[in-house]
Amino acid sequence: MASPSLSSSFFFFILFSLLSALSHAGSFGINYGRVADDLPPPSKVVELLKSQGLTRVKLYDTDADVLTALANSGISVVVALPNELLSTAAADQSFTDAWVQANITNYYPATQIEAIAVGNEVFVDPKNTTKFLVPAMKNVYASLVKQNISSDIKISSPIALSALQSSYPSSAGSFKSELIEPVIKPMLDFLRGTASYLMVNAYPFFAYSANADEISLDYALFKENPGVVDSGNGLTYHSLFDAEIDAVFAAMSALQYDDVKMVVTETGWPSKGDVDEVGASEENAASYNGNLVKRVLTGSGTPLRPNDPLNVFLFALFNENEKPGPKSERNYGLFYPNEQKVYNIPLTLRELKDGNETAPSLNVEKSQVPVTGGGRVETMSFHGQTWCVANGHAGEEKLKAALDYACGEGGADCRPIQEGSTCYDPNTLEAHASYAFNSYYQLKSRGPGTCNFGGTAHVTTQPPRYGNCVFPTGY
Ligand SMILES: *[C@@H]1O[C@H](CO)[C@@H](O)[C@H](O)[C@H]1NC(C)=O
Ligand SMILES: *[C@@H]1O[C@H](CO)[C@@H](O)[C@H](O)[C@H]1NC(C)=O
Ligand SMILES: *[C@@H]1O[C@H](CO)[C@@H](O)[C@H](O)[C@H]1NC(C)=O
Repeated sequence: MASPSLSSSFFFFILFSLLSALSHAGSFGINYGRVADDLPPPSKVVELLKSQGLTRVKLYDTDADVLTALANSGISVVVALPNELLSTAAADQSFTDAWVQANITNYYPATQIEAIAVGNEVFVDPKNTTKFLVPAMKNVYASLVKQNISSDIKISSPIALSALQSSYPSSAGSFKSELIEPVIKPMLDFLRGTASYLMVNAYPFFAYSANADEISLDYALFKENPGVVDSGNGLTYHSLFDAEIDAVFAAMSALQYDDVKMVVTETGWPSKGDVDEVGASEENAASYNGNLVKRVLTGSGTPLRPNDPLNVFLFALFNENEKPGPKSERNYGLFYPNEQKVYNIPLTLRELKDGNETAPSLNVEKSQVPVTGGGRVETMSFHGQTWCVANGHAGEEKLKAALDYACGEGGADCRPIQEGSTCYDPNTLEAHASYAFNSYYQLKSRGPGTCNFGGTAHVTTQPPRYGNCVFPTGY
């Protein structure tokens, strides 16, 4: 592409400066996940981030090498206390004192830590650590207070969209009723009291992929489209992302937490998927992520909160070859481990102004049926009696990884297979995996590709028989 003339470049600079000044533009960062055995060393990754103009990064731990490499880099960092430590952190203030000392104070302020994510998608943690979440957040906060850094470093915890009971239309967004009193309200009270914000992971890809026949691809990819009117409040949505975020805002509003802010701690689109993961492609990933950057850096807030800047962390920096689950899980990265780009998109205002963007597509796809849904909680009408079960001959290791994925990130309801619950017996891997796979499959409205689990699962038209366990269908 020819480089723009000086005057047009200057014009665009002024235009974008004006746009960003006038329109409550947000900030853009990236998740640096490391579930891989082939990534460059942290020092090289920091150079890569700098070369791309990326100034905010989110980690899933407090790795010493990574935090050291980020020191004095000009890059601000969100770190994490992993789910495995929640129960200890909740039980013992002296543990969080030591954790903060060793994992935060040791690096801060040379390493510009801006927030601590206490746990990740805790409500869908297969180990069910939900009851430890708010006590752990409070203990970490108290430890920060002791170090006099509690106003500089915020504490929050990323929630998955599956925390929502309803997400369509956005204005009807509400949290799952069983979470509201035990954890949502206490957490939002804590966030309000400490001037922190809610962290939300939102993937329009999941909603699109499970309902590709009903959701317009342009709407999912932030391309030009006629928009979808929310019948509840009359607002028009031009992207599934905005609709999902506003469903969370509506859920907060319903509990009277309109003053609590939000940061989107994960969103993204995979460049590859299994054959049945509809929509996973390089072209779509480049569109979603490229348009997201533009949306965040030059747009305003969402229709429901237009004056709240959108602060977003993209998932993810690298393709991570050791992530379990469907193929898409290993293909969210902007970069291959060798630091080559998977596809080329602008990541900064400067690149946007230099015109490194493709024109919005004008062809409006398919019908504009306004199914927005909450990604992992999408529900549709009942289509027929089918169930999803594990393949008895699938290897134990693959089956275990798939089970963990389904109960964890997948958002399957795995309560009934916990010890003491109705579907614990028979206590076999195949029975538990079948229960979890089926729950996931039903939650995904039996959409294409939702009963695969790396080839360890298949659809059946017969009600599964494992002990006295009743496998749900059609919710
Ligand atoms: C520092 O963090 C790591 C990982 O979160 C944890 O295993 C370790 O116990 C922490 N250090 C202390 C002293 O708590
Ligand atoms: C605590 O930190 C603030 C700045 O955040 C500083 O002004 C104050 O002096 C500190 N207090 C102590 C006791 O170190
Ligand atoms: C998690 O534990 C709480 C009690 O601590 C219980 O009410 C809830 O049903 C459990 N959830 C799951 C998914 O097991």
